[in-house]
Amino acid sequence: MNNLTRRSFIKGAGALLAGGALPISLVELAFARPSQSFVFAYISDSHIQQIKGDEFVRNFDRGLIRAVAEANLMDPRPDFVLYGGDIAQIGTKAEIDHGLEIMSALRYKTRYVMGEHDYYLDLGEYWESQLGPQYYSFDHKGVHFVVLNSILTYDDWTHDRWSSGEERMSVMAGLDNPNGSPFMVGEKQRRWLKEDLKKISKDTPLVVLSHSPLQKIYRGWNFWTEDADEVQALLKPFNKVTVLYGHVHQIQYNQIGNISFNSAMATAWPWPYPTSYRQAARHVPKLTVRMNRADPFFERDATGWQFINLDNGDVDVHYSLTDNTPRTVAFSKEQGRPEDTGYQTRTIPPQKHY
Ligand SMILES: [Fe+2]
Ligand SMILES: [Fe+2]
Repeated sequence: MNNLTRRSFIKGAGALLAGGALPISLVELAFARPSQSFVFAYISDSHIQQIKGDEFVRNFDRGLIRAVAEANLMDPRPDFVLYGGDIAQIGTKAEIDHGLEIMSALRYKTRYVMGEHDYYLDLGEYWESQLGPQYYSFDHKGVHFVVLNSILTYDDWTHDRWSSGEERMSVMAGLDNPNGSPFMVGEKQRRWLKEDLKKISKDTPLVVLSHSPLQKIYRGWNFWTEDADEVQALLKPFNKVTVLYGHVHQIQYNQIGNISFNSAMATAWPWPYPTSYRQAARHVPKLTVRMNRADPFFERDATGWQFINLDNGDVDVHYSLTDNTPRTVAFSKEQGRPEDTGYQTRTIPPQKHY
């Protein structure tokens, strides 16, 4: 389904509703592929935020509700849904419950990744009671998936300097707050990962889910994982690895050796590109070409959700923007890296508003 766009999917869904049948081409594509080809949906960073009582920030609710509704319309059906972290803003029971209630409308099995906004109030206790372990792995149609909690940090920062979980969360939740501490996977989880991967043959496609990028993009905003190099070293022996991450609320893609990196958009709001991408060029891996910034006049610009097709280890991410043209970042066999061919050759000038 490499060439399908979100529009085709939704059109397919429309045809299904209107005419009771899928277009032939969709049916052929859906069933003619070998077992390692399938589609899943990816939703991330909804930041559900309580105002008081049963009042929640409406805009963030709406972003998630829309993503869930669109995922339910996908045809062919996704095999499952992944949620990339930060379902809550400050990680309270009320916020997590409200987010999960919206997510419960999904018709597919859903798995979750831990975000720092879910974690630093109670160190993931309530999240874990609702969603299970903070890191785990599973297999699906010949692909090995690993979910990591990449937003841990140094023990003394986590445990020794706060009078309450609320205080700790308020500091970690400030993206560019210099009192934050770098994210990391940590030694315990890396040991677990090493053991987990021992069972997997080197030609099995690997997909690794984390909240922060498992690469070092920009430390000031924790677009960064402190032990990314160590994690990458564990992934290096495998022929085909893709890391999918949330947290950055923008489209990013990159290739480091055998590892492709793709980010997810948020359903809540877009982060701008850090000016330091330019100021501190040394922090920037050979990343993406510079992309258009979110339009600040357009409330939901650059937010949305993703569907992902995986074809024998090659991952294509289709970005469904809430209020803008869909984008696709597809793995190019020729270039050996993810590419956004629609945007790599042109930029769109700033738009006028009246
Ligand atoms: Fe986030
Ligand atoms: Fe985050």
